[in-house]
Amino acid sequence: MYGAWRALEEAYTEGKIRAIGVSNFDSKQLMDLCAFAGIKPMLNQVETHVFWQERPEHEVMVRLGVQHMAWGPFAEGANGFFTNPLLSAIGAKYDKSVGQIALRFLMDEGVIVIPKSSKPARMAENIDVFDFELTESDREQIRTLDTGTSLILDHHNLATVQFLLDRIKGQIDAGR
Ligand SMILES: NC(=O)c1ccc[n+]([C@@H]2O[C@H](COP(=O)([O-])OP(=O)(O)OC[C@H]3O[C@@H](n4cnc5c(N)ncnc54)[C@H](OP(=O)(O)O)[C@@H]3O)[C@@H](O)[C@H]2O)c1
Repeated sequence: MYGAWRALEEAYTEGKIRAIGVSNFDSKQLMDLCAFAGIKPMLNQVETHVFWQERPEHEVMVRLGVQHMAWGPFAEGANGFFTNPLLSAIGAKYDKSVGQIALRFLMDEGVIVIPKSSKPARMAENIDVFDFELTESDREQIRTLDTGTSLILDHHNLATVQFLLDRIKGQIDAGR
């Protein structure tokens, strides 16, 4: 990991890339990297959505000056995301969709969002979130949706680590 990071620092210093960051780092890994790196990661991309808001991890990222970026900001549709009653009710007040409310909430909380869609109409919808404002009361209610656990892929669960290592090993064995 340190070797890979040094290579990224070098490419950044040489102006070959504009920004360097990490993904799926927990607080301990991030603190460790920040303590010993020449250039701190500019962002950390982690699973973040209304059902797993990553608040403790967010605080550490803020303290370290590392931008929090959400992957899976729609929870990839899990847990009935797109029909969530609270998000629907808040959306009705502003004539916005569940997805738009969730994106606006995360951005208000200081999180960069990278929703994925393969459909142009949905891409347009997902970017149309700058013409309304949530109230503090809206945000307080949305904070209660946090379950504190992953809904997609917890990279710090030992079974996940084994699954990923097996995949990497499979790719190495296949010569890729
Ligand atoms: N760093 C990592 O470990 C990691 C892991 C996973 C993902 N990511 C990245 O994170 C980004 C987003 O995450 P994700 O794709 O996993 O999940 P996501 O953005 O939470 O959800 C994507 C799903 O939502 C649907 N969708 C998008 N906009 C919609 C809308 N307005 N209304 C209804 N459905 C909508 C998409 O379907 P359609 O495409 O059919 O619209 C797709 O099924 C991607 O760029 C991905 O590469 C990173």
